Amino acid sequence: MKKKYGAGEKDILPKQDSLETIAAEVLTCTKCLLSKTRKNAVPGEGHLNAKVIFIGEAPGYWEDIKGRPFVGDAGKFLDSLLSEIGFSREDVFIGNVLKCRPPGNREPQPSEVQACTPYLDRQIKVIQPRVIVTLGNYSTAYVFSKGGLAFTSITKVHGKFYDVSLLGMKVTVFSTFHPAAALYYPKYKQLIIEDFKLLKERLEKEGIITY
Ligand code: URA
Ligand code: SF4
Repeated sequence: MKKKYGAGEKDILPKQDSLETIAAEVLTCTKCLLSKTRKNAVPGEGHLNAKVIFIGEAPGYWEDIKGRPFVGDAGKFLDSLLSEIGFSREDVFIGNVLKCRPPGNREPQPSEVQACTPYLDRQIKVIQPRVIVTLGNYSTAYVFSKGGLAFTSITKVHGKFYDVSLLGMKVTVFSTFHPAAALYYPKYKQLIIEDFKLLKERLEKEGIITY
């Protein structure tokens, strides 16, 4: 069959990335040692054209078993927060900084974050969201660094909107505490609920939630 382009050129044409391609790569990824201890990698899931992306830290016990993000107790709380602002999981994209569970839910290591975040970057680029919501310290620190913002602590930056240029696009970054924190400390639960109210107001103002 006749080719549309000259010999050799086909190889250098950029292939279009997709959430499916990224997920397939994640499922078999061995770029860091977490691949040895995971049961299932958790690529993340949601709408291809989501206007809002939520980013957590890493899979926990249930996520590792099921291969899906936020399906344990923290996930139930996240579901209720989403429904409070008029979203179901299918309307948004939910992902994590790390795609594999750190043993015993220990904190992510810098080398793991470095190995894994190219997947997150690609997911963000494919989806092109208007708003990125970071949940907890790790995703906030990562997204802030990508957006050229100085990250101090989640206590200082949560509940605020930052318009930034990130991965070549204009997005609004909004951070709150990790939903798992709310399960241990009632104080954080209340703060997260208040942050989500601010998020809802902003999304309504921008016409992202319409009802
Ligand atoms: N905590 C996270 O950060 N991500 C999950 O997917 C589940 C719990
Ligand atoms: Fe690959 Fe990320 Fe899993 Fe490490 S955590 S093995 S980089 S998918």
